[in-house]
Amino acid sequence: MTLNIDDMASFCKRKGFIYPSAEIYGGLAGFFDYGPYGVELKKNIINEWWKFMVNSRSDVVGMDGSIISPESVWQASGHLENFSDLMLVSEDGSFEVRADVFLEEKLGKSFDGVSADEVNNLIKDNNLTGPNGKKFKTCESFNLMFPLSIGAKKVKGYLRGETTQMIYLDYKLIQQNARMKVPFGIAQIGKAFRNEISPRNFLFRCREFEQMEMQFFIDPKDRETWFKYWQEQRTNFYLNLGVKREHLRYRAHEKGELAHYAKRAEDIEYKFPFGWKEIEGIHDRGDWDLSTHSKHSKQKLDYFDEEKKESFVPHIIETSAGLDRTLLLLLYEAYEDDKERGNIVLRLHPKLAPIKVAVLPLVKKGGLKEKAQELFDSLKLDFVAFYDESGSIGRRYARMDEIGTPYCVTIDFDTLEDGTVTIRNRDTTEQKRVKIEDLRKELVF
Ligand code: GAP
Repeated sequence: MTLNIDDMASFCKRKGFIYPSAEIYGGLAGFFDYGPYGVELKKNIINEWWKFMVNSRSDVVGMDGSIISPESVWQASGHLENFSDLMLVSEDGSFEVRADVFLEEKLGKSFDGVSADEVNNLIKDNNLTGPNGKKFKTCESFNLMFPLSIGAKKVKGYLRGETTQMIYLDYKLIQQNARMKVPFGIAQIGKAFRNEISPRNFLFRCREFEQMEMQFFIDPKDRETWFKYWQEQRTNFYLNLGVKREHLRYRAHEKGELAHYAKRAEDIEYKFPFGWKEIEGIHDRGDWDLSTHSKHSKQKLDYFDEEKKESFVPHIIETSAGLDRTLLLLLYEAYEDDKERGNIVLRLHPKLAPIKVAVLPLVKKGGLKEKAQELFDSLKLDFVAFYDESGSIGRRYARMDEIGTPYCVTIDFDTLEDGTVTIRNRDTTEQKRVKIEDLRKELVF
């Protein structure tokens, strides 16, 4: 795992995974587009998460909420007041940077949860300046929400800063429609937007990104049990996808570092080349969200326990993962520069591989092209398949290794004689001869 983040970004661009957005116009920091293999990989991660968190359980259901909502939602949730980062701006206004990011770069340790006073003292004590010795103004707080003006009447709204707020607004309807009983969960995957001061490290900190979030509604007396339970489950999710245990750890938030809604938070961190960094948060949000929305909307958001014949406001344990960060860590786990083979091998779990099987005629002539296309047509509705006839067979295998394709199927002259093909395994490079009618049994994911 020696690839630095800039080299990873350039690998992703070269191989059709991820591109800087609007690059032909100079681009915009913190925005990315997913190319043909990136979008397949992302879809596969989404499928695995949804299966793990929703479809394999009877106590979690899904939803898909709106991305834009009125100001009142974010006023009530506390985001307009509290969802901010500390920013350092040079006296002439030409340079701005997120304070904790700047301090970490200059002083070589983490400053998560640092206060404005501490930043000002650290800047003074260490005589820190911006580029060309530019002095900083006093550290100030910067709200991360993206405001919008909606319709001809210019109603004030916001792009959502976290997907989860829509879950709280609909929780009562969902609980009733799906006849859920506490404890139960509601899950959602979708875009979130944050006006980050210092987007950096490629997909790690963007201004537009995706979250995979689940809110678990509980009786407050069970909070410890469910917090531990979801920590374990979420660790298993990464391990099941082939992430090495030693590349994962938990880090509890200090008191001053907790988000305004959290009573307790523990991050799952991954060992990136730029340090241990958060990929997911497990949060005890208490009754903050339902109580504040109930107060501001003047709607009852409590839950009636049929057995005990009593009402209460459920508390919430949240699991909140970043899809783009998950994709980045999975690329790091999979990436190997195989010197013996002479090419990169992306050892993605076969379930995640963007292309499942490549169909390759050894040469184009002698009827091999037609036979290969016939096989490709028979596979493509069941598997994400790829047809490639250009270049030497070795070069074509290497191209498939580089985007993580677990199987290459080659059609040669024997295929025309006896109806057999060779299957090449990405991880071992071993080749096996099988009859076309037995091929599907060999494609295991
Ligand atoms: N609903 C709770 C919540 O949003 P968070 O810790 O602010 O909690 C959860 O975000 C996850 O979203 C993070 O662990 C990270 O994976 C992802 N995330 C947050 N900000 C991000 C950004 N600017 N770029 C990419 N991913 C981000």
